[in-house]
Amino acid sequence: MTDLKGALGRALADAFSAEGLNRDLGRVTVSDRPDLADFQCNGALAAAKAAKANPREIAARIAARLEGDARLSTIEIAGPGFINLRLTDAALAERAKAIAADPRLGAETVATPRKVVIDYAGPNVAKAMHVGHLRASIIGESIKRLFRYRGDTVWGDAHFGDWGFQMGLLIVAVGEEQPDLAFLTPGDGPFPDESPVTLEDLERLYPTAAARAKEDAEFRDRARKATAELQAGRPGYRALWRHFVTVSRTALEREFHALNVDFDLWNGESDADPYIPEVVADLKVKGLLILDQGAQIVRVAREGDKKELPPLLVLSSEGSAMYGTTDLATIVQRRRDFDAELILYCVDQRQSDHFEQVFRAAYLAGYAAEGSLEHVPNGTMNGPDGKPFKTRAGGVLKLHDLITMAKEKAAERLHEAGLGEDLAKDAFDETARKVAVAALKFADLQNHRTTSYVFDLDRFTSFEGKTGPYLLYQSVRIKSLLAKAEGQKAHAGAIAVTEPAERDLVLTLDAFDAALSEAYERRAPNFIAEHAFRLAQSFSKFYAACPVLAAPDEATRGSRIALSTATLAQMELALSLLGIEVPERM
Ligand code: ARG
Repeated sequence: MTDLKGALGRALADAFSAEGLNRDLGRVTVSDRPDLADFQCNGALAAAKAAKANPREIAARIAARLEGDARLSTIEIAGPGFINLRLTDAALAERAKAIAADPRLGAETVATPRKVVIDYAGPNVAKAMHVGHLRASIIGESIKRLFRYRGDTVWGDAHFGDWGFQMGLLIVAVGEEQPDLAFLTPGDGPFPDESPVTLEDLERLYPTAAARAKEDAEFRDRARKATAELQAGRPGYRALWRHFVTVSRTALEREFHALNVDFDLWNGESDADPYIPEVVADLKVKGLLILDQGAQIVRVAREGDKKELPPLLVLSSEGSAMYGTTDLATIVQRRRDFDAELILYCVDQRQSDHFEQVFRAAYLAGYAAEGSLEHVPNGTMNGPDGKPFKTRAGGVLKLHDLITMAKEKAAERLHEAGLGEDLAKDAFDETARKVAVAALKFADLQNHRTTSYVFDLDRFTSFEGKTGPYLLYQSVRIKSLLAKAEGQKAHAGAIAVTEPAERDLVLTLDAFDAALSEAYERRAPNFIAEHAFRLAQSFSKFYAACPVLAAPDEATRGSRIALSTATLAQMELALSLLGIEVPERM
């Protein structure tokens, strides 16, 4: 199956090529004048400019070659040499039928699927998930779903931050509070199965310890030493650390679950640890590891760099592995375990230097093919002051609190709109959760990932405008229309396209594959979000102009039911690729 726009583009490219001109000139775009045409091609203007010829003449030659293309009802040359193309109703109906019958709703798969690891969210032990992790989680989840849908073999990995200096800090901080803990004894154990701390303890201790380490050199040294001992395998520290990990992970999983974020792998930085000795040895053999003031580094600066890129710190002077070391070792691990051909890191853009350092070191050492590691950076969600969002008290907002706030707001909005009134409490709450998730995710994903945006829950949860709840509302409306049709024993029939609103709807359905392909190539889900919104708008116009259940005759009614069914299916698919679920009813 192939989309109409793409197929026309190829026909145009062939025509340009047959005229001895560059195929690329045949690019077609959606017409800016839908009253005159469906698509247009501006290639004749560029061709004429290059050849110092008359653009209308070139356009006429191209148009002549398209004569006889049964899909086109008119081919017109407009203005200085635009080629305007209009499809026949039959060609549109044909395409709509194909989309409706296609389980993939018109979306293609990639020609050569790859093995891809998507590293996203990156939550940390003991640090409650805060809004800083929100975007990476939302965007990564969508990219993971998109890549998988396009046919790649994909592993989503949380890359849990469970290994660095923070762990040493926590061990020391817990030890100060509970000096008699068995975990602190140097022996081999066994150590208690029960965790001596709760997540609340960890969340309370961590910020204090982190702040203290900045000022108190003695404390910092103890934490560094504990980090090194943990990494070297001291049994009590390992046992205590495992409790930190379990306690944190349980809470994090709940939050991710509430956001429809789901990982195939919950590997942590610690899982790369077994690979570190060989990586260090290998870097040494390759002459890449350099001793610098007691630490071991890899120089990654390149000639022509616009700004100076500091070296990658591999081992601290205590011999601890650093954040970049675990990332480097994780690349080796992913290549070995999954034969990963591409690794995408959906992480805040403020970490771009870090990734540049790690990638360059990996390329230098031959751990990955040049270009197979990609940082997919995101901007921030900001407060009204334009700075990364903080609570009113100036603290970071915990994800859990954000989700709760969004759910409450969504419930309020549903009540305001008189929606969901007939639902049982559980069903209502679940609908509110879906509305909240749609609100947060769509507000995020409608922006290009590198564009920062301002947090505005009122706007995000509105049922009007370019919002997630609006899209859910439209989808549910189609669902209830179809349920009503079913109740009247009115069934889908052969699709026929006549009305302008029907043409527009089919053209929008046709644009789905291009949107997915653009989102895929650019690792940018906003193209899917844009498509979903356009589809809702096209449907809304169609629904206003073309009665479905009250259609003039049975054939038209059947056709419109089929169009509505295809629209709903494509909408649900698009939303699911954004990680948004549509409630059954509202
Ligand atoms: N845990 C890190 C943080 O909170 C993000 C991890 C990103 N992924 C990676 N492979 N480094 O900043």
